[in-house]
Amino acid sequence: AMTAIADVAASRTFDGVDLHALAAAIQTPFYAYSANAIRQRIAGLQTAFDGLDHRICYAVKANSNIAILQLMAHQGIGADIVSVGELQRSLAAGIPAERIVFSGVGKTREEIGKALAVGVWRFNVESADELALLEQVAKEQGACARAAVRINPDVDAQTHAKISTGKAENKFGVSIDEARRWFVQSSGSAHLRLDGLHAHIGSQILSLEPFRRALRRVEDFRRELVEAGHEIRSVDIGGGLGVSYRAGLDRPVDVNEYAALVREIFASFNGTLVLEPGRYLVGEAGILLTRAIRVKSAGEREFLVVDAAMNDLLRPSLYEAWHDIVPLHDRREPARYDVVGPVCETGDTFARDRAMTRCRAGDLLMIGGAGAYGSSMASTYNSRPLTAEVLLDDGRYAVIRRRQSFAEMVAGEQLPQAWNET
Ligand code: LLP
Repeated sequence: AMTAIADVAASRTFDGVDLHALAAAIQTPFYAYSANAIRQRIAGLQTAFDGLDHRICYAVKANSNIAILQLMAHQGIGADIVSVGELQRSLAAGIPAERIVFSGVGKTREEIGKALAVGVWRFNVESADELALLEQVAKEQGACARAAVRINPDVDAQTHAKISTGKAENKFGVSIDEARRWFVQSSGSAHLRLDGLHAHIGSQILSLEPFRRALRRVEDFRRELVEAGHEIRSVDIGGGLGVSYRAGLDRPVDVNEYAALVREIFASFNGTLVLEPGRYLVGEAGILLTRAIRVKSAGEREFLVVDAAMNDLLRPSLYEAWHDIVPLHDRREPARYDVVGPVCETGDTFARDRAMTRCRAGDLLMIGGAGAYGSSMASTYNSRPLTAEVLLDDGRYAVIRRRQSFAEMVAGEQLPQAWNET
């Protein structure tokens, strides 16, 4: 119930915190996350997979605030990282290295070296070049790297093209034919233990079918490898579980049905299943609070200009993603707005021709589904400082990121003091 945006709109409270009072205390725009909503999602997933040998490695990219990562750590959740920056955040938040998996097509030698040195649990390897590099770096460190092959199962995740990753034409993973050669070639390596499979086919997936098809391919391949004498200790099934962005319209996959599918497909697997949920754990647990700056009429259209913008929440601009927008005042007469931010781009639009109650300057609105890929994708475009983030928990709140100051925003910049020759 913590995540149902209609309840929040009706009560104007989120995780027990009065949103008007909060917005009076914290200048808008800001992100607010419900700790209880996140804990509920974690518990739901843990319960669904109860009794199965599994590890949940939260995809840090979804929301990488250290306080969110600490909340994950306290619930026993590990991390799926894609950079050394995410590694450092995870460790700083108290997620132990042995609960961290490292994914991504562009891991550099330096990144591999650092991750290996701190002892991350597994590398999800995506190219032959990376595999060779991993083995070499491990040899230099006198270590043995644990690795899984990211398989590209060539299935359509039936989601937005920009967040679809499991088709053969995408840059992610390798074909089963290539993976097969890797297992043959790596067996007996002293510095590389290739004993896992990994697949992640995309994000915001709203039906079980793409998962079923991809995971069946992975499991068929796993059995083939075992028959050929290879030991497979882990299967990482990635993330991708969708959430509701349109209250009452989006129908996310039920986690218990998802878990039942995974149990059925991997019934004969004795190793560890790894999950990498990002959006599912935090997406609906976050809102972006914004105030109307003014209403601008232009012929037929009315623009509701709010103080949040595409630099704060990029998803509508980048993916034409729908986010529910709910004014937090009493109902007035109906109106339709293009809800736009102050950034100087036509694409700085949160919604087009959206029906809602009439708004005036100073009104508070919330944008739903902002917990995942919101603050983590933010920028300072138009020299707008990074926005504040607040964690809510049972009627109390804590600022988990203060609004960036001008000095912080320009901290790395300097006038040329000396001109160097290369
Ligand atoms: N594992 C891997 C290897 C991934 O690449 C991703 C997300 C995840 C797990 C987590 O996926 P999730 O459970 O959150 O669907 N910025 C986009 C989403 C990009 C997802 C990238 N990879 C958006 O705002 O929709």
